[in-house]
Amino acid sequence: MKTRIGILTGGGDCPGLNAVIRAVVIAAAKNGWTTFGFLGGFEGLLNPVRTRVLDPDDMDGLLFLGGTILGTSNSGRFAAKVGDGVAREIDAGIIAEAKGNFDRLGLRALVVVGGDGSLSIAQQLHHGGIPVVGVPKTIDNDIAGTSVTFGFDTAVSFATDALDRLRCTAESHQRVLVCEMMGRFAGWIAAHSGISGGADAILIPEIPFSLERVCDKIREREQDGKHHSLVVVAEGARQQGGAFVTQEHQAAGGGPSGGSFRETRLGGVATMVADEIQKRTGKETRVCVLGHLQRGGVPTTFDRLLCTRFGVGAVRLISEDKFGLMVAFIPPDTVGIPLQEAIGRLSTVPPDGDIVSTGRALGISFGD
Ligand code: F6P
Repeated sequence: MKTRIGILTGGGDCPGLNAVIRAVVIAAAKNGWTTFGFLGGFEGLLNPVRTRVLDPDDMDGLLFLGGTILGTSNSGRFAAKVGDGVAREIDAGIIAEAKGNFDRLGLRALVVVGGDGSLSIAQQLHHGGIPVVGVPKTIDNDIAGTSVTFGFDTAVSFATDALDRLRCTAESHQRVLVCEMMGRFAGWIAAHSGISGGADAILIPEIPFSLERVCDKIREREQDGKHHSLVVVAEGARQQGGAFVTQEHQAAGGGPSGGSFRETRLGGVATMVADEIQKRTGKETRVCVLGHLQRGGVPTTFDRLLCTRFGVGAVRLISEDKFGLMVAFIPPDTVGIPLQEAIGRLSTVPPDGDIVSTGRALGISFGD
């Protein structure tokens, strides 16, 4: 029988997932292997098992197709994250069921393409006896051990384009525009696009903000004759001494086994910031929430290349029988690092690092 490997995509979707699938399937086929795709994220591993054999000849258009042809989920019986860095142990019965199905399919290895929650599940599957290789996916860029995750560059490009558009309308109407971006507990998307898009203030989770400091920046611009301002707010930004603004405060549903778990959803902080700016400065203020637009669309050239390198890197690790690893981009190379090094701690924007100091040197306010 030909060697068989499995692949699944877990967690929130992200531009470039299909490009990784394509690279894995084509590189595996070059080794004479067959790739099985599990459908619907980790749930596809459970009864009734849902798989699809991935034919390398069908991979042509996947390089630039957003979403994932395999489907995904960030809730359900396998959800590993329920809050700020809080990982959940997956029920032993669930792991055993997945292992049994993996063995019945005669698979040599499983490629898990996912964020820190999915990679933490991958690690648990690995401990449960499934030879696993991880690929770091997320627009949030918050996975430790890799200099960048795929999807981030595409999300930043989109967010920067949005800021360019918002600046025009803000200027025409002499308004303040507050733009909320994704990123969970990391401010990478907000910081990178905010600087690239010429924001006047950038609020990120790593630097708790004062509303008065943000308003000071807007007043200062008024005095300089600049009657519009652009404020970027990461969804995980919070006031000094304040709490995260969430859309739901509890994990929905959920029992110790067989229940459905879901991560805390952030969102809404921009509305609060905009209301306060309008009240305190008297400036007409509007809100734009980029939301899931950041997760869709065609991956950038950088992401296509990164996805392709990650996919090929995953197949290389399998061919070397190296498991329990994640493919990481440590320029100039893609290398395997222990999954353990990637999970359990988030990569966040260093408050004293080069990105923030670059912004400060231009007079961008971080609200502190
Ligand atoms: O992790 C990716 C991400 O898009 C976050 O930036 C955001 O907080 C979250 O997923 C939203 O998830 P959902 O798919 O549940 O809306």
